[in-house]
Amino acid sequence: MIKSLDKVLQDSKLNIRTLKALAENSFDSILITDVTNRPKILYANKAFKKLTGYSPAEVLGKTPKILQGAATDKTVITRLSKTLSAGRTFEGKAINYKKDGTPFLMHWRVVPVKLGKDTSVWLAIQRETSSI
Ligand SMILES: Cc1cc2nc3c(=O)[nH]c(=O)nc-3n(C[C@H](O)[C@H](O)[C@H](O)COP(=O)(O)O)c2cc1C
Repeated sequence: MIKSLDKVLQDSKLNIRTLKALAENSFDSILITDVTNRPKILYANKAFKKLTGYSPAEVLGKTPKILQGAATDKTVITRLSKTLSAGRTFEGKAINYKKDGTPFLMHWRVVPVKLGKDTSVWLAIQRETSSI
């Protein structure tokens, strides 16, 4: 009988390596932030650079708000803040801006990663989309 993935990942080193390989090789952009009033980026993958033009190193410690600008829909951002404060998963679309100022439509989801009932980090999956 094959082992379940849970069993294989009981080895914590292998668990971390598998998650890192997933994040580093994802076609979608991935951001992880701390859980504060002004979330700061703890991790960005290579696909984040491909999507936005910002390298992971230059965004560490910064806020994902660097992606926002004049045409970003504030009602979406208010919904995001309310959803995250309630400990729930957010999904939405809004105009964001690449490092060179090019606007694009971002489709993203932010998931609270919890230990018990407390959220330890927020994890975002992001991609460019063409439809609202
Ligand atoms: C993990 C995570 C990823 C985020 N990614 C984006 C994003 O891709 N685009 C965006 O416009 N805002 C994003 N945000 C939202 C901003 O960081 C910020 O939380 C939001 O603007 C609310 O703060 P404010 O009320 O000070 O504007 C993200 C937030 C978190 C926690």
